[in-house]
Amino acid sequence: MEKERIQELIQTAVGQLAYSYVPYSHFHVGAALLAKDGSIYKGCNIENAAYTPSNCAERTAFFKAVSEGVKEFSAICVVGGQDGKLTEYTPPCGVCRQVMMEFCDPETFEIILATDTEHYQVLRLKELLPMGFGPGNLT
Ligand code: THU
Repeated sequence: MEKERIQELIQTAVGQLAYSYVPYSHFHVGAALLAKDGSIYKGCNIENAAYTPSNCAERTAFFKAVSEGVKEFSAICVVGGQDGKLTEYTPPCGVCRQVMMEFCDPETFEIILATDTEHYQVLRLKELLPMGFGPGNLT
């Protein structure tokens, strides 16, 4: 993916940090999910007083897209940090990696971890979830 597109995704993900609902962890996460049709679905983490219903930023973005009929994706950018300060990369949790496995090709789907528009790392899903179990295993 070209740098301008990556930077657009980073800026979109950073913009989501303001919407994170994180009264318990105070750890803000923003996500920007790029669909193959070029549209971008935005997500933030949404916590809950009962803890387990909390939803990660990545899954918020995926579920928004799928709920609108979009199921083909090329990349996701994830940013996060305590009190919204981006000092380190925020890698997707295991549950979110599994959701990516459901809808994305592990060979090509790109995960962009960033702290700002000049500092980022691009990984493939297969690197973050080697030998993942997906829809192909049930056919
Ligand atoms: N979180 C995400 O939204 N995405 C990740 O990839 C890692 C963790 C959220 C869940 C919870 O609201 C907070 O970060 C602390 O775990």
